[in-house]
Amino acid sequence: MSINKVMVIGSGQMGSGIAQVLAQAGYSVILNDIKQEFVDGAVAKISKQLDRSVEKGRLAAADAEATVARIVTSVDYADAKDVDLVIEAATERRDIKLNIFKQLDEITPAHAILASNTSSLSITEIAAATNRPNQVVGLHFFNPVPVMKLIEINIGLTTDEATVAAMREVGESLNKTLVEVKDAPGFVVNRILIPMINEAIIVLNEGISTAAEIDEAMKAGANHPMGPLALADLIGLDTVLAIMNVLYEGYSDSKYRPAQLLKKKVEAGHLGRKTGQGFFEY
Ligand code: CAA
Repeated sequence: MSINKVMVIGSGQMGSGIAQVLAQAGYSVILNDIKQEFVDGAVAKISKQLDRSVEKGRLAAADAEATVARIVTSVDYADAKDVDLVIEAATERRDIKLNIFKQLDEITPAHAILASNTSSLSITEIAAATNRPNQVVGLHFFNPVPVMKLIEINIGLTTDEATVAAMREVGESLNKTLVEVKDAPGFVVNRILIPMINEAIIVLNEGISTAAEIDEAMKAGANHPMGPLALADLIGLDTVLAIMNVLYEGYSDSKYRPAQLLKKKVEAGHLGRKTGQGFFEY
């Protein structure tokens, strides 16, 4: 099956990154969100990002221009009537995602694949909200999308082989490293990464070390490119908490209990880089 036209739902940091790499690889992209100002803002950011690559001599100006030209904006799911693939990167909430998939199932052509960038929710459950559960799959990118090499292809109980093969083709065309993962809370990366971040928050809360020194320790002592607390701020503390909650509920295991300080930060609206304050200030 050949995939040419893709709708990306959600123009936040993940959705806009996904739209950017798809457009750079030559796909026609429809970037959708609930408000025109959101999608316009995302396209402006993508454009700025590409300009920076041009300045660094990594991208020809004409290619940057052609990339942006391949992205059209949308605030209406009806624009998905002739797409081959949808990649949903909306808010990490179960009710929102189920609703989006139900609607898209009615609008998109029968051959279209419906993928979710969910970082922890059940692909099998999302698939069951549609009449094409064999063509629903997880396509999980990592932040920042243009830089991080990995895509997890998350395979639901009902996802068929043709869908997985089509996603392998898309991932390879984006020059990403692909791993196939069976549907399970947190999949592979977040099951391992997010509890580590949660533990760093507990270490901070116990007063064992400062935020700066915890991060320095993991950078210099474990060769991580950034410390766990700075990474939490990059991912967004609301997202980190949402993933911990999915792990806690999904495995019914106290080892995944979210850190109290993480909950408090989210209650305070200190969500990391996107709000200017998290474990560090921006
Ligand atoms: N978008 C695009 N490019 C970006 C970028 C962004 N947001 N941030 C950095 N870059 C690019 C820079 O332009 C730079 O490119 P060049 O070297 O070609 O000039 C390159 O990345 C390196 O950037 P910097 O020199 O500014 O900084 P750095 O070396 O510290 O790298 C980093 C920054 C890539 C973010 C690095 O610190 C890193 O890899 N951190 C870990 C990120 C990580 O673990 N992400 C996974 C999060 S989990 C997740 O996403 C899953 C989930 O479901 C929650």
